[in-house]
Amino acid sequence: CKYTIVNQDTCISCGSCGAIAPDIFAYDDAGLSYFIGDDNVGNIPVDEDVLFDLEDAHDECPTGSIKVSNEPFNGDPLKEA
Ligand code: F3S
Repeated sequence: CKYTIVNQDTCISCGSCGAIAPDIFAYDDAGLSYFIGDDNVGNIPVDEDVLFDLEDAHDECPTGSIKVSNEPFNGDPLKEA
C-alpha cells in the first residue's frame, strides 16, 4: 500500500498536484492542497488505480510537499523516511 499526505507548511498552492492527480488532491479554502482520501491524515491507502498519478504529483511538486510512504502518516507529513 501507498500512503500520502501534503505538508501544508511548505505547500505554495502551485496547483500542480490537483491538476495531475485530481482524484487524490484538492485544495482547501486557503488554497493549500490536501489528500482527499482522509482529509490529509494520510492513513487511508491511495487507490491502486491512481498510483501512477501519485508518483507524478510527488515528482512534480516544486516544494516537495507531497509526501509518499509505505506506512500510514498519522497526520505527520514529516514522518516520511
Ligand atoms: Fe502545493 Fe505542491 Fe500541490 S506546492 S499545490 S502540494 S504541487
